[in-house]
Amino acid sequence: MTKLIGLVGTNSTQSTNRTLLEFMQKHFVNQAEIEIIEITDIPMFNKPENKQIPASVQIIADKIEAADGVIISTPEYDHAVPASLMNALSWLSYGIYPFVDKPVMITGASYGTLGSSRAQMHLRQILDAPELKARIMPSSEFLLSHSLQAFDLEKNLVDAEQVAKLDGLFADFLTFVTIMKQLNHAHALHKKEAENFSWEAL
Ligand SMILES: Cc1cc2nc3c(=O)[nH]c(=O)nc-3n(C[C@H](O)[C@H](O)[C@H](O)COP(=O)(O)O)c2cc1C
Repeated sequence: MTKLIGLVGTNSTQSTNRTLLEFMQKHFVNQAEIEIIEITDIPMFNKPENKQIPASVQIIADKIEAADGVIISTPEYDHAVPASLMNALSWLSYGIYPFVDKPVMITGASYGTLGSSRAQMHLRQILDAPELKARIMPSSEFLLSHSLQAFDLEKNLVDAEQVAKLDGLFADFLTFVTIMKQLNHAHALHKKEAENFSWEAL
């Protein structure tokens, strides 16, 4: 069975993005194994000279490396991804490269009407950086607006149209993961390029 990581894109203890990933984990249980991963224990990125990665980050990196793909669900703060998500991605691109060529599906939930659309665009741009270089599923967005009202008491997504859209996009993502496995001829080179890349080289 396809093994996916569901990365909660916030360190908030009350998160509708976490609820969305938990719903996906339950709803797609017969199609994929989704392990939900938190970024709450990650210290603030401080670019240590020895490139020592915190144990909490290394554990996440190893899980991403071993997974077939990653779903990242992001809130939106001031038209961007939360600082805690940005922080996690900085660590996950600092001397370690678990995202290189990794299929990624982006989802997002926000309290407003736009459902994290700007944060999702921001996240796409970040994931395309030379030391992340993920394979982001193209032309797809799952935007959960008014996310405080989106779930019932059992934490199920209530709107049938939203569920149908999520079903379609998730089926696409599983196909995307399969196709990406075949587009692996340059993978070793991509890893090497990420390893050799330096922002300090002249
Ligand atoms: C400082 C701050 C800025 C915010 N900016 C936005 C925003 O630009 N767009 C938006 O849709 N919601 C915005 N919100 C509302 C968030 O969508 C909401 O607080 C929440 O983080 C949604 O995700 P969560 O339930 O996973 O925490 C903002 C909230 C805070 C606290």
